[in-house]
Amino acid sequence: MCGIVGIIGQKPVVNRLLQGLKRLEYRGYDSAGIAVLGDTSLERRRSPGKIVELEKVIKADPIEGTSGIAHTRWATHGRPSFCNAHPHSSHRVSVVHNGIIENHSELRADLEKKGYIFQSETDTEVIAHLIDSHLTESTLLEAVQASLQQLKGAYALAVLSTEEKTKMVGARLGSPLVVGYGQGEMYLGSDAIALSHLSQKISFLEEGDLVEITRDSATVFNKDFHKVERPVISSEISSEVVDKEGYPHFMLKEIFEQPDVIRRSLQHYLTDSDQLDLNLPFNWADVPKVTLVACGTAYYAGFLAKHWFERFAHVPIEVDIASEFRYRQPPLPAGGLAIFLSQSGETADTLAALRYAKEQKQICLGILNVETSSIAREVDHILPIKAGAEIGVASTKAFMGMVVVLALLLLEASRSKEKIGDTELKQHLLSLRQLPSQLESLLKIRGHLKTLAHQVAQADDVLYLGRGTSYALSLEGALKLKEISYIHAEGYAAGEMKHGPIALIDNTVPIIAIVPKDELYDKAISNVEEAMARDGQVILLSDEKGHHDFSPGIGTNGSSLSDSSSNIERVTLPESTFLTSPLLYTVPIQLLAYEAAVARGEDVDQPRNLAKSVTVE
Ligand code: G6P
Repeated sequence: MCGIVGIIGQKPVVNRLLQGLKRLEYRGYDSAGIAVLGDTSLERRRSPGKIVELEKVIKADPIEGTSGIAHTRWATHGRPSFCNAHPHSSHRVSVVHNGIIENHSELRADLEKKGYIFQSETDTEVIAHLIDSHLTESTLLEAVQASLQQLKGAYALAVLSTEEKTKMVGARLGSPLVVGYGQGEMYLGSDAIALSHLSQKISFLEEGDLVEITRDSATVFNKDFHKVERPVISSEISSEVVDKEGYPHFMLKEIFEQPDVIRRSLQHYLTDSDQLDLNLPFNWADVPKVTLVACGTAYYAGFLAKHWFERFAHVPIEVDIASEFRYRQPPLPAGGLAIFLSQSGETADTLAALRYAKEQKQICLGILNVETSSIAREVDHILPIKAGAEIGVASTKAFMGMVVVLALLLLEASRSKEKIGDTELKQHLLSLRQLPSQLESLLKIRGHLKTLAHQVAQADDVLYLGRGTSYALSLEGALKLKEISYIHAEGYAAGEMKHGPIALIDNTVPIIAIVPKDELYDKAISNVEEAMARDGQVILLSDEKGHHDFSPGIGTNGSSLSDSSSNIERVTLPESTFLTSPLLYTVPIQLLAYEAAVARGEDVDQPRNLAKSVTVE
């Protein structure tokens, strides 16, 4: 989603601003721009499309200065275009903005009455004119502060003015903003990654903060405009740009990193003597209810865990999408456990849901990849997922990391509630320890999936079916395919198929059936039969035993692996338990989506319209 970089300094800034924007590219954007303070004026260059387009614009019409602001925009108000790209400027002011200003129409009407002429369709342009309108009798800091009083919505801002050339003002409410400390220069960024090539010394602004930076100072004010100190910490984000390391896409690299994600997680949460060590700040016996809230892929990780927690730990758990949860105001019993799953830790709806849960006196647990994120700083306890920086917009290794942590949490809950004994716990931990090498072997089926993906890539509609945790995976599989290949796909509970989607099935519809040989196998395989009886083209993911026991059209008598019917393709996975099967079956559904998108020639790492970090609601 939108990204901000700002430098107030003494050396040329344009290249360094562009480098910062490139570090933010992975978040997803559709236009980019830059403004620098020259001797007398603020000069802007902007372009729709990728940063390379902006670079061409700057090459054709160069600018330079020692202070500047830059932005990658993910369109909300107004389509991606030259005019709508940030920075937005008024006479003496230039602004970059992440977030959404909800009362922009009223403000715009007022400003137009005062004679301000708007050049874009954006909500952000009102901020530039508003600040300019306050500037005549105020300093830049005062003008920004006065303007913020009039804004409703969410923002992270960086503001430059020709009136005070040695200052930059920033503010945050609902969208993160970071201050970076350099030698004789200072920075603002939408996250630590944006500044990682400039400084490792950073401080995170808090909600409602306003900051004035000069070349060698940062003065922070809280929401009541009182001067406050925010701790300066050392960022662990490397200044190196994360590399694809020979893989054609980050997504593929991240899929192949999953065995290491599991290894790191087990190393983090298990002692040398294989004891669980989650250091939880509560007793399961005291928890009246568990609520799990997330968005996107993280939501599906949570939905999968619902099945586990209810069935195996007998823990009542509700799982919800953050954008719905936050406005439904669900009653939550005091002392309940609220779990927030998020790769970025910045998703606006998940953050708002967390704040609601805190008001309801829940114990708030974050299962997160970015340990310095906004959610990380507001929860009571973090369980990190140890996936490392995830660049591909379609989440893969972070999903795996979340599911592993949820598996460990499940084991911890089951042991504490005496649903499993020590021997059973040991067996489960052993099966988790074997997973990384199992996954390494499993990744070798990529070639087979590539062939199958060509069939999927031709389709207009694809159906994913599964029961239990495999139902959650079918939702995640369909999401993955939609995100990067733009093929319409639906995940369905296999038993629910006959209540609607069965009407779609014909010989043009691939059906990805996720059917491990578990206690739901017989039920799920009957649903596969129903689909095949209607000419559905089934890709059956199962283990040897599961394939052996399924002979389409004949019944589950285990006759033969050679198919009597031509409308089935089989993908064979290792045997699994209820704990390991979702982790294993995740790999083929990710690879299938990846290969289908590659076969269609799509931009796998930066799919259209999507953002990695969704900081607006
Ligand atoms: C966006 C991303 C998804 C991600 C979702 C939730 O939609 O494109 O990959 O699953 O946000 O993000 P989070 O950072 O909270 O896990």
